[in-house]
Amino acid sequence: MRLLVLGGTAFVGRHVVLAARAAGMDVTLFTRGRTNPELFADVERLTGDRDGDLSALHGRRWDAVVDTSGYVPRVVDRTLDAIAAATGHYTFVSSVSVYADPSAATLSEESPLAAVPEGTEAVTGDTYGGLKAGCERAVTARLGDRALVVRPGLVAGPHDPTGRFSYWPRRLARGGEVLAPGDPGAPVQFIDARDLGDWVVRMAAAGATGTYNGVGPAGRLTLGQLLATCAAVADADATLTWVDAAFLAGQGVVPWTDLPLWLPDDRRGMTSVDASSARAAGLTYRSVEDTARATLRWDAGQPLRADAPGLDPQRERDVLAAWHAADGASR
Ligand SMILES: NC(=O)c1ccc[n+]([C@@H]2O[C@H](COP(=O)([O-])OP(=O)(O)OC[C@H]3O[C@@H](n4cnc5c(N)ncnc54)[C@H](OP(=O)(O)O)[C@@H]3O)[C@@H](O)[C@H]2O)c1
Repeated sequence: MRLLVLGGTAFVGRHVVLAARAAGMDVTLFTRGRTNPELFADVERLTGDRDGDLSALHGRRWDAVVDTSGYVPRVVDRTLDAIAAATGHYTFVSSVSVYADPSAATLSEESPLAAVPEGTEAVTGDTYGGLKAGCERAVTARLGDRALVVRPGLVAGPHDPTGRFSYWPRRLARGGEVLAPGDPGAPVQFIDARDLGDWVVRMAAAGATGTYNGVGPAGRLTLGQLLATCAAVADADATLTWVDAAFLAGQGVVPWTDLPLWLPDDRRGMTSVDASSARAAGLTYRSVEDTARATLRWDAGQPLRADAPGLDPQRERDVLAAWHAADGASR
């Protein structure tokens, strides 16, 4: 099977490529040649720009395309101009950020979608979801009977450039007193990029169509359980101190950016996404322990980015000291 990946050299796309190669597919990548250009030296690499020169795609045919690099409907549309007629199947990797109301009790594929004003092209935290929803519409309008739309939640695992999930295994491995935010019983969801890649490739091979949320893990997982798993995997001398959400707000600690996977109650829908359709269609999950262990092992060899999410050690100590002082004062 001939598979074209639009992208494929960072994280989600990389795991799609790895899964496709493991499945024996004949893989071609189309990128600008900027991100990890040395990767996949034995795979056909086409160079161009989805928002520029698409000529490398002309005159070619593929059995399936996986699009991991679409963010702006106009750009997705012009890619489709080049390849819609040249592929039997098209997978668009979208996001659970497409949903309009992150405070909903649960989010299913039928939940209302976000929108952005006509002509919006700048991808920001505010426009990302509405733009992705527009990209989905562009794909389904052109290829509805051949299109698969996958909406992942937070993606975790080796090669994650965002550093979000990685914060926790790394922090637990450093040991000492660890600031754990909010409620240990709060639900968390994520999908291992390796599970996502495997499933997308199996769906593309089967010619499956439709729209699916792609989140995990298999059962209900709490933040407390996740941090305990990270601690067990790290095997370090770490103790968790759970700090009240209101106190953290008073300290200016921001959910998600300062402490990843911790969301305020008014975004609970983002941790209660229904993936039962995806599971019925064959999405499977490795264990949380496997994801934490593999992430920690990969992360250990990576330099820490200056803009990585999470609290830096001094700030964490300061907030913990303030918490203990407030606790002592109230006794
Ligand atoms: N990470 C998460 O937690 C998460 C959650 C939900 C959804 N998602 C979705 O998952 C996808 C992210 O995947 P990823 O970045 O890890 O994918 P990836 O496919 O591994 O990396 C992005 C690829 O796109 C290529 N690219 C970027 N701009 C391009 C352009 N103008 N023309 C041609 N190629 C271009 C990059 O190469 P060059 O730079 O060399 O061009 C790179 O190969 C996105 O669709 C995102 O919305 C991610």
